[in-house]
Amino acid sequence: MCALPSFSVAQPTRVVFGRGSLEKVGELASAAGSRALVITGRTFARRYGYDDKIRRFLEQHGVKVGFFQEVEPNPTYSTVRRCLEVARSMDVEVFVAFGGGSVIDVAKAVNVVYTLGGDVSDYVYPKAVNQKLKPLIAVPTTHGTGSEVTKYSVLVDESTKMKVAISGEGLYPDFALLDPEVLRHLPREQSASTGLDALSHAVEAYFSRRSNPYSDLMALEAARISFMYLPCAVSGVLECREKMLFASMIAGIAINHTGTNVGHGLGYTLTVEYGLPHGFANAVILPGAARFYEAYMPEKAERFFEAVGISRPPGGLEEALRSLMASVGAPLRLRDLGVPGERLEELVRDGLRYQRNLANAPFEITEEVAREIYSLVY
Ligand SMILES: [Fe+2]
Repeated sequence: MCALPSFSVAQPTRVVFGRGSLEKVGELASAAGSRALVITGRTFARRYGYDDKIRRFLEQHGVKVGFFQEVEPNPTYSTVRRCLEVARSMDVEVFVAFGGGSVIDVAKAVNVVYTLGGDVSDYVYPKAVNQKLKPLIAVPTTHGTGSEVTKYSVLVDESTKMKVAISGEGLYPDFALLDPEVLRHLPREQSASTGLDALSHAVEAYFSRRSNPYSDLMALEAARISFMYLPCAVSGVLECREKMLFASMIAGIAINHTGTNVGHGLGYTLTVEYGLPHGFANAVILPGAARFYEAYMPEKAERFFEAVGISRPPGGLEEALRSLMASVGAPLRLRDLGVPGERLEELVRDGLRYQRNLANAPFEITEEVAREIYSLVY
């Protein structure tokens, strides 16, 4: 029997979960300040009238409201800088992020620079931002990111074309408002891709050299829910989306302990170079990583199947992941995504740049291993 690893648990975000909880945004924001900047993406909040709703909830509590509604998927430094100007022009006291991971990550990064000064590029990993920032209320509109409870913000540095991370204790949102009703309008493809992002967080957290009993608990339950409910979530059943919203939140708690590893590390470049949605990019890599996970952590792999409640198929974790992905219409192989075979060496080179993720894997990711994983999923 092995000794338990040392770990500490600090999960400072207050989570408010439940249908209709978006309404509480006014009360929470007014306790934190009198001028709020609401940050959203370009279409979802407008199309379904959530921006007006949020304005109403805030104004009912005497909060003055400004908007920044220009966050794109895979947001860049320049988006953060533009949003920062709006925040400064209204002397904002509290941030409200309403959107997927991109929106919440921009809000976190803007908050860092707004509170501490300087430029967004001054704060990227390996620096840690542990200072207390302005209050941030995060309302996820997808069931994948987990960013509403994490200490990470992931952005694209347009000069290096790399995904960079800002991280530290300061980045935990003060509140995470999880309102499953909001997921009613989530398009099918985004339900699939963001749900697979949550699953990737769960699988990568569980098969991580930094995992501990607490992160395992969160990761296994998130994986169990994803295997059971992602397909019906993708077909639009609200009860299933609600379960996935919970799964995505606890998978976020898991990666606060472990970071991510192979799926994210080797997947980022597929998003930056080929525009593949983040969740699909991680998921397409995972079956290749799965062989290594099972080889290096056979007992944990066995426990994974027990906890998730599925019997191990002949092809192991690799096959189990591929069947789930196929059932939600996710791309299964790089060649289906228009990645030319002769570009594999570039992927290996670019993928290996993400050592901040890859170093968390339970095995060493040499050039040969990275090449093997990309080839396995090609
Ligand atoms: Fe992710």
